[in-house]
Amino acid sequence: MQIRILRYDTIDSTNSEAMRQAKLGAPEGLCIVADEQTAGRGRHGRTWESEKGSGLYFSMVLRPKLPSDLLPLVTLMSAVAVREALLKHSVSADIKWVNDLLVGEKKISGILCEAVETVNGPAVIVGIGINLEAKHRSDGLSTTATSVEEETKTKPDGETLLDDLVEALKSNYEILNEQDGPRSVRDRWTKASSYASGKSVLVRTAGEQLEGITRGIEGNGGLRVELPDGSIRIVQAGDVERLRRK
Ligand code: BTN
Repeated sequence: MQIRILRYDTIDSTNSEAMRQAKLGAPEGLCIVADEQTAGRGRHGRTWESEKGSGLYFSMVLRPKLPSDLLPLVTLMSAVAVREALLKHSVSADIKWVNDLLVGEKKISGILCEAVETVNGPAVIVGIGINLEAKHRSDGLSTTATSVEEETKTKPDGETLLDDLVEALKSNYEILNEQDGPRSVRDRWTKASSYASGKSVLVRTAGEQLEGITRGIEGNGGLRVELPDGSIRIVQAGDVERLRRK
């Protein structure tokens, strides 16, 4: 995969730009990076605060040759790659299903994967936001978010982190494309996430809210949750929250 990076000072959303370029036929490996986003998007229609210089705002076009039912594994692959890149900067993050990166239960990075039909077939846009500095919050304190600066007590080098992120995405995507790639990616994700198994969670899906204990992931990355009656529910989309047992 040939990597090509396009940089912007300001843009609406790097995911939107990657999507526009993919629709016009951009090959996989095209990356969009911006210093600031005016309409940064998070999962479930949320806004992603994207102030100038306080975060890494990045999107990559991929054209995976996977059966469509396995496409959600691109999301797991991306989370593993972000974790690897952060590790190179002395930040050890946990992965909360499906692709939130947490340090001490505070979010340091979020990933928004979006599928799009294009002139040369389907594409997936992998959008990654990494909190670099504390100034993305007015008081510099938060109970729900953290940043590379707060975790390492030094000013992060955004350029090196970008290089490491691109490298990690490239190598994990190559793994996903191998013969036994889907299994390898599931194994890598499972090793990297404390949420994979045995965690008490509250899951909010579009239609319901359920509590249970995580019991691994399905072939396509769906989360297996054991309900209080012992049955297993498979969650394909939703928000997971850790529950503390009293
Ligand atoms: C989430 O946790 O809700 C996902 C957040 C994803 C944010 C990134 S920032 C770069 C890319 N462009 C966007 O508009 N969103 C993603």
